Amino acid sequence: MEKKNIDWSNLGFAYQVTDKRFVSNYKNGAWDEGVMTEDATITLTECAGVLQYAQTCFEGLKAYTTEDGRTVCFRPDLNASRMKDSCERLEMPVFPEDKFVEAVKAVVRANEAYVPPYGSGATLYIRPYMFGSSAVIGVKPAEEYQFRIFCTPVGPYFKGGAKPITIRVCDYDRAAPHGTGHIKAGLNYAMSLYQIVDAHEQGFDENMYLDAATRTYVEETGGANFIFITKDGTLVTPKSDSILPSITRRSLMVVAEKYLGMKVEHRPVRFDEIKDFAECGLCGTAAVISPVGKINDHGKEICFPSGMDEMGPVTKKLYDTLTGIQMGRIEAPEGWIVEI
Ligand code: PLP
Ligand code: COI
Repeated sequence: MEKKNIDWSNLGFAYQVTDKRFVSNYKNGAWDEGVMTEDATITLTECAGVLQYAQTCFEGLKAYTTEDGRTVCFRPDLNASRMKDSCERLEMPVFPEDKFVEAVKAVVRANEAYVPPYGSGATLYIRPYMFGSSAVIGVKPAEEYQFRIFCTPVGPYFKGGAKPITIRVCDYDRAAPHGTGHIKAGLNYAMSLYQIVDAHEQGFDENMYLDAATRTYVEETGGANFIFITKDGTLVTPKSDSILPSITRRSLMVVAEKYLGMKVEHRPVRFDEIKDFAECGLCGTAAVISPVGKINDHGKEICFPSGMDEMGPVTKKLYDTLTGIQMGRIEAPEGWIVEI
């Protein structure tokens, strides 16, 4: 397969149109078979549920070229199952999980020329999403829906790749208790845009959100879960009903315990504990693991001993093992790697 002429090593995390995408429509209570199409545009009624009441959710996963030249993706079944949870919470019809995985594979296969080569530092980001497509004017769920999957080659989410970033404690909340923080609803991201623009204007890379009810526990950032490493090498990661259950974080917990023999704690993490941690990172499909060097709490700086120059040593081991599994250098647990 001849690859596209793309400067893979200099890609940022940005959209570029690829050749084909998957589209399936839900009408009269059923999903159609779905098709691959070259049309990257969508025509909708002005009154579509997604446009009026933000009835939409999405997923994100990646495809990789392995060291031995296979094209694979990472745990797509977990994206299918999380999307089911999102749909149920948003009164949207579930797209069958097995068909979700098949459609992901079909999209990658149809755009194989855009899957970045092994060792280029880039990956193919896959974006499944669903939205209410029929007209609603009273506040209620749409009757018709569209499920689509496109893909686009991407580089690192944060400029500078593995360089530690600086984040700040945010005064706004991301998710209410008993709200929608645990699902991947578009609305969670719409309401974070004000804060992220402001963070960037103030010179910070991301926002650290605290729990909305008490502002004493660490939740997550706008697009990734937290991992912390204690001074004695334990992986600690926040537990809360209002954070998104990151597939990367769940995978890292297994990697830490089973591959690296580390102790793992998944528990509520108080904000006042973090000054005692040795390393901090953000984990997610887009972020992979992005090390955090510094957290700014209203002018007071919490600087991790791992510093601002490079990833901490334990974070690096986690990063190398996870990406080693994803790129086929290290044997994966059963079912984690799905060949295209
Ligand atoms: N938290 C939020 C709010 C996210 O948007 C994401 C990205 O998907 C994550 C965490 C990381 O989740 P995952 O590892 O499944 O990509
Ligand atoms: C992902 O990591 O897949 C996400 O959806 C996060 C988003 C902020 C790009």
